[in-house]
Amino acid sequence: MILSENNVFLLRNEEMSYLFRVTEHGNLEHLHFGAPVRIADADALAVKYGTGWGSTGGPEGEEFPMYLPLEWSGLGRGDYRESPLEMAGEMPTGFKFSYSKIHEGIVPMECSLPQAKGNAETLEIVCSNVGGLTLHLYYTLFDTALCRRAVLVNNTDRDVVIRKMMSSMLDMQGTYEMTTFNGSWIAEMQSYKAPVGMSGIVNESTTGFSSALHNPGFMLSEPGASEDHGVVYGFNLIYSGNHYARVQRANEGINRIVQGISPVSFEWKLAPAEAFETPEAVMTYSSDGYNGMSCRMHRFVNEHIVPERWRGKDRPVLYNDWEGCMFDFNEPKLMSLAKKAKKLGCELFVLDDGWFGARDNDKAGLGDYSVNRKKLPHGLSGLQAKLEKLGLAFGLWFEPEAVNPDSDLFRAHPDWAISEENGVVVLGRNELLLDLGKQEVRDYIVENVSRCIDEGKVSYVKWDMNRHSTALGASAHRCILGLYECLQRIFGPRPDVLLESCSSGGNRFDLGMLCYSPQIWSSDDTDAVERCRIQYNLSYLYPQSTIGAHVSEAPHSQTLRNTPLSTRGNISFFGLLGYEFDLDNLSPAETDEITNQIAFYKQFRHTFQFGQLRRLRAENGISMQVADDDACLVGLFQGLVPAAPGYERIFPQGLMPERPYHVESRKQWLNAALFGGLLRFVLPIKVKPDGILVRTAGKQYRMQDAVQACTASGSALMSGLSLNARFMGTGYDPSMRMQGDFGSNIYVITEEK
Ligand code: GLA
Repeated sequence: MILSENNVFLLRNEEMSYLFRVTEHGNLEHLHFGAPVRIADADALAVKYGTGWGSTGGPEGEEFPMYLPLEWSGLGRGDYRESPLEMAGEMPTGFKFSYSKIHEGIVPMECSLPQAKGNAETLEIVCSNVGGLTLHLYYTLFDTALCRRAVLVNNTDRDVVIRKMMSSMLDMQGTYEMTTFNGSWIAEMQSYKAPVGMSGIVNESTTGFSSALHNPGFMLSEPGASEDHGVVYGFNLIYSGNHYARVQRANEGINRIVQGISPVSFEWKLAPAEAFETPEAVMTYSSDGYNGMSCRMHRFVNEHIVPERWRGKDRPVLYNDWEGCMFDFNEPKLMSLAKKAKKLGCELFVLDDGWFGARDNDKAGLGDYSVNRKKLPHGLSGLQAKLEKLGLAFGLWFEPEAVNPDSDLFRAHPDWAISEENGVVVLGRNELLLDLGKQEVRDYIVENVSRCIDEGKVSYVKWDMNRHSTALGASAHRCILGLYECLQRIFGPRPDVLLESCSSGGNRFDLGMLCYSPQIWSSDDTDAVERCRIQYNLSYLYPQSTIGAHVSEAPHSQTLRNTPLSTRGNISFFGLLGYEFDLDNLSPAETDEITNQIAFYKQFRHTFQFGQLRRLRAENGISMQVADDDACLVGLFQGLVPAAPGYERIFPQGLMPERPYHVESRKQWLNAALFGGLLRFVLPIKVKPDGILVRTAGKQYRMQDAVQACTASGSALMSGLSLNARFMGTGYDPSMRMQGDFGSNIYVITEEK
């Protein structure tokens, strides 16, 4: 609901409200963002400033206190805090309220930037300055979040140059801690939390893309907020390029929050009558801690960001050949893998890198989308036909935004690639970026990707991007607009093709990409233990239905960790399950475990993918649950096992206290090889520690592990379900938890009818 009364504006849904008003001199005074309030509360919520605040802003006769909380500010008027707008050679200030308008639904953008869609109302505030610039501030209210963006229109008769323009600016009272998610390749989403001080905290990417270095999403929380209690705000940006956010506290306890495109080497010329549109900034609020905020963000992403066709739609269990084959495959090898994948229960076979041009390694062929006939003599359609016969859908990898200098495309059109600083060619993963600001480049991408999709009846595309660059400078935004245009032109007419975006793993995990690709490959770090932390941190801002998470080989190629297969599966369940290793080497016990995993995931697929995810209290390791009307599924992922563990429990949430529930652990196999020579304690026969039995035990024996079942009230379970004891040299008992380091289990909780 959006209300406007005497130039006071209230945007309010069931969970939060946002309030501001126009001051006597036409400034927009921010009043409140938080718990639901009334429009009549404006005076009660407004800051009461005194003379102790020092100098004033604004021209003579129109002074306003320097630290008045504002909705938009500018340079050169006595507000010395950060300006949301900077222009070359002029002071873009003095925007005064001129009129407002309330629109049903969203107000579509003119440029190719993606936007949140669906049921909403939009408040448009129009301000103009004496110089002839008009500023439109849009506030689109959804049931779970508020989106803000700004549009600048040049109503002068000359060109003006924008150097910085934020999507939103907001001055909030209070004391906050800011959590950002930073990292790098195979180390995405490490969380950092720090108090917001007077120097402020900047969360910015300048790699040309949203990047794994600094995810655009962040959180502000009141000190002491926990997963389930306290005030938490979530922020994000619907954008995949260079982004910028800064939160800075002023002496008076007001925090200025700006969000938008990074101003680093940004420059945009605006001709007379032209408009510049910023991406949408997203904000949400909860007084129920981080879980409360995540719950709203998840609903917002699932209902208003991902393409309509894929909202709430179950995603297939896939097999991807990359980690198993890399570039070394041919049709018989792929078909052998496909047959095994099908038998295990996979539904989609994804052919990753290496299928086109001279791409036998990552040094050549990128950009040449013609099938490598040596590897695939029957082409894409031949392979697809064979997969279809098996009952598998066909998925295909592309990396359309980049080119290898050693490629036919580059040789034909060297000017299509973005040249680097001072003529020095700097490669990243042996690649250059294509200039998506050029129409002919976009046409080439659209034609080639579309042709391959249609030829191969492809039902899933993995859209990769492995080259980041700081050299994009002012053209970075044009390239991002070009990327969105390509995605729209390719996938708009092909809504049934499931798009998973990827950028060396999670290097472009953002809401802009999610508007086209309902899922994103979370990380090339497929070590289950590390990826558990990545998924956990992603879950603060992104729902599990967006997180591609595959099971890979152990010992793991990046960490050498030998994580139990059961855990590798259990962690991937809290995302979109896939398998990514050479299935030709599976032992009978592994085959059984994986077959069970896929069957179990399919049984609870909708709950796993779309149930409400919550991060739970855990006494050792990490615990998460997903829950909907059908089931509550609790995962407990242990860390290192102590020799003298305390009693351990799981703490499900959201159950009905008085109702009875049935709890059952997922049936999973223990890796008997874990026991080594200790097998002599669990088998009735004498075994040699280095004998054949011990060496092959893990491959042959299926020993059930951690079996637990009980019935209890919701209230008892939420107080902490006591788990079975761990193995301590005590002999084999299937009810004992014997997983060792990084063991895990899933507990299925269903209401007893
Ligand atoms: C990137 C991706 C991987 C894989 C390779 C192929 O690194 O993140 O998943 O597709 O490229 O070259």
